[in-house]
Amino acid sequence: MTFDAFGRLLDGRFETLPARRAAEGHAMKILVVGSGGREHALGWKLAHSPLCKALYFAPGNAGTTAVGTNIAVKADDVGALVAFASREAIDLVVIGPEKPLVDGLADKLRAVGIPTVGPSAAAAQLEGSKAFAKSIMVAAGVPTAKAATFTELAAALAYIDGRAEESSVVKADGLAAGKGVFVCATKAEARAALTDILDHNAFGSAGAVVVIEDFLEGEEASFIALCHDEHVLPLASSQDHKRVGDGDTGPNTGGMGAYSPAPVLTKALEAEVVETVMKPVLKAMKARGTPFTGILYAGLMVTANGPMVLEFNCRMGDPETQPLMARLKSDLVEVFHELATGRLTRTELDWDPRVAVNIVIASAGYPDTPKLGFPITGFKAAAATGALVFHAGTALKGGAIVNTGGRCLGVTALGDGFAEAIAHAYAGAEKLHFEGSFYRHDIGHRALGR
Ligand SMILES: Nc1ncnc2c1ncn2[C@@H]1O[C@H](COP(=O)(O)OP(=O)(O)O)[C@@H](O)[C@H]1O
Ligand SMILES: [Mg+2]
Repeated sequence: MTFDAFGRLLDGRFETLPARRAAEGHAMKILVVGSGGREHALGWKLAHSPLCKALYFAPGNAGTTAVGTNIAVKADDVGALVAFASREAIDLVVIGPEKPLVDGLADKLRAVGIPTVGPSAAAAQLEGSKAFAKSIMVAAGVPTAKAATFTELAAALAYIDGRAEESSVVKADGLAAGKGVFVCATKAEARAALTDILDHNAFGSAGAVVVIEDFLEGEEASFIALCHDEHVLPLASSQDHKRVGDGDTGPNTGGMGAYSPAPVLTKALEAEVVETVMKPVLKAMKARGTPFTGILYAGLMVTANGPMVLEFNCRMGDPETQPLMARLKSDLVEVFHELATGRLTRTELDWDPRVAVNIVIASAGYPDTPKLGFPITGFKAAAATGALVFHAGTALKGGAIVNTGGRCLGVTALGDGFAEAIAHAYAGAEKLHFEGSFYRHDIGHRALGR
């Protein structure tokens, strides 16, 4: 095993890359947009391909410097990103987060001839507006919770009062960084959430519209596919852990851990999701003149009546990407380039049959007000366990790596079966320390319980 200057593990295969690149005629310069664990994991996987000759992150984090070059451009600075990609003759851009997609980054890159993984702004409305997504699902006959859309508080409150059920789910329409959804057990909670969103403008323009939907009972899973036009290439299934605390308690977060595969999504259910969700939605998007090309993520509730869609995202999940990349065996540069150039025809990818588990290490105070700026130790010891440490909110400061965000590290490990993968991931996570750091101790409990 070898380590870089900051004590991070460099995969043995990575050392042989220059030789493999040299033997390859058409290696590419690739730009990954974003700075999270998702982007580190994507970049790590892209860097393993002999088709990758240079890798840039905008802006990246402390971990991405081990696999590529960070550039000082923010992920939502559309103009500067297009300028950089043009100037550096980038061959492929992979857009990690949703905001630049909704803001039209993919359109602008394609307009200057740069192959890009990510949907147009029009197609990204599947994530950018929950009301739009709902209208597409209803039109396409996709199984989803019954819902109504409101812009006026009085009408929304009257709808809640008129419902037979006490429970409901209140959602701000626009992008809210995972904070705009309220699962309400009572009508009083729903009234409070609606008043916050519509009257107190808790989410600004993202809350100008609200969607109120029926509460669905079941187990959640993520189904992610690379989609072009009407073609669907499913990734392996995965499952996130949204709540901050053990036993799924406390507030929602960006995600505290993930694993792949998700046993709740059987092969038969996956095939059902392709037919009843992905294909009808792609067809509807094409029919309205806004075909979807990119990564389509269906957040599912697997109910007694089968899988139903909670929401769509138009990009990879974070942290689901981390275990998925640990398991992916196919060449990701090849697959992404096919997607970005409209040549995607394959119907499956190669996966490591083992289970991958990712544990997120977060900063004290997350998800509300994380305490930042503390040096992180233990990278060498964590790497020595064989775990992969993907960085998220980290930066280099005076020779040390410090925490700069709510979610800082994603410790990812493989194992034969859930018990082993979970044990490996925690063995790595235990080695990493900074003031106030914490993680959930029950990642994978649902899969273990099966
Ligand atoms: N109809 C629903 N029934 C039950 N739980 C829901 C429903 N819609 C959303 N949720 C819960 O709220 C979480 C966030 O909702 P989601 O629609 O995925 O929005 P976002 O990810 O943008 O916050 C989901 O992961 C799920 O736990
Ligand atoms: Mg979600």
